[in-house]
Amino acid sequence: MGGCKNMTLESVYKKGRELLSEAGIPDSDFDSLYLLEHFFGADRTALILHGEREADEGICERFFSAVEERKTGKPLQYIVGKWNFMGYDFLVGEGVLIPRDDTEIVVETAIGYLKNIKNPKVIDLCSGSGAIAVSIAKMFPDSEVTALEYSDTAVGYLEKNIKLNGAENVRVFRGDVTRCSESFEDESFDLVISNPPYIQSDEIDTLQVELQFEPRMALDGGDDGLYFYRIITEKWAAKVKKGGMLAYEVGEEQFEPVAGMVEAQGFCDVKYSLDLQGFKRTVSGVRTEE
Ligand SMILES: C[S@@+](CC[C@H](N)C(=O)[O-])C[C@H]1O[C@@H](n2cnc3c(N)ncnc32)[C@H](O)[C@@H]1O
Repeated sequence: MGGCKNMTLESVYKKGRELLSEAGIPDSDFDSLYLLEHFFGADRTALILHGEREADEGICERFFSAVEERKTGKPLQYIVGKWNFMGYDFLVGEGVLIPRDDTEIVVETAIGYLKNIKNPKVIDLCSGSGAIAVSIAKMFPDSEVTALEYSDTAVGYLEKNIKLNGAENVRVFRGDVTRCSESFEDESFDLVISNPPYIQSDEIDTLQVELQFEPRMALDGGDDGLYFYRIITEKWAAKVKKGGMLAYEVGEEQFEPVAGMVEAQGFCDVKYSLDLQGFKRTVSGVRTEE
């Protein structure tokens, strides 16, 4: 622990940074500052202006116990319990995937398409925290969004995030995406969107420590990482309206095979968007046939 008696805000921040850095946490500066802001409400400007102020002892203890948790590799997002995505707050914790910046790219693809459609019907498959579904529902208040998810824990977060953001136009459907398209027999959608699990099963254990805290069910895309794209494209293509869009987030190197699946189901105008590292991060296609 930091020994919180008579510590200033600045010394709390510096000690936090030092402890994290010694433990091998790569972004120790960012993480210490983020925790400082979370616990003390002090951002970098406040630190510059009021860094010499004495830190409340009780809050300081909580700050350092969060630092201890972070030292184990537990993601910052699970420690603070929420994360921002597309400008909206999402509650997160163990058992639900942390929304990623990369996923904002597939939401941007959706925005470009939905802005020309009145009262769009959207389904977000493998919805997790609801990051995609809730953001779309908030940006398009006239939309009707279905968020489909299988994990009970994730559904719990999904429901809380709908409430937190007042996204009344989202309905939750708990079901297995590989089996339940038949439950939507009489329905079709302007947009079917998904960020499914897409990591190859045998790669998961080799990934950075933070990912080991996230649910395997949210990551595991089968032997070649493409299991969910194959099944979703096959089973849900018919649920896309004529002129409607199917949009996926994909992993690095997955654009080509997934684009091939989408084209094989009769979608045209199959495109990608690049992420900040230059990887093809999305696949989207438009349905031309009924
Ligand atoms: C990569 S995460 C994406 C979560 C969220 N859409 C996002 O972008 O942050 C994949 C999600 O798929 C869910 N999932 C895994 N298998 C599923 C299945 N068979 N049916 C429905 N959801 C499933 C996981 O629980 C997880 O929430």
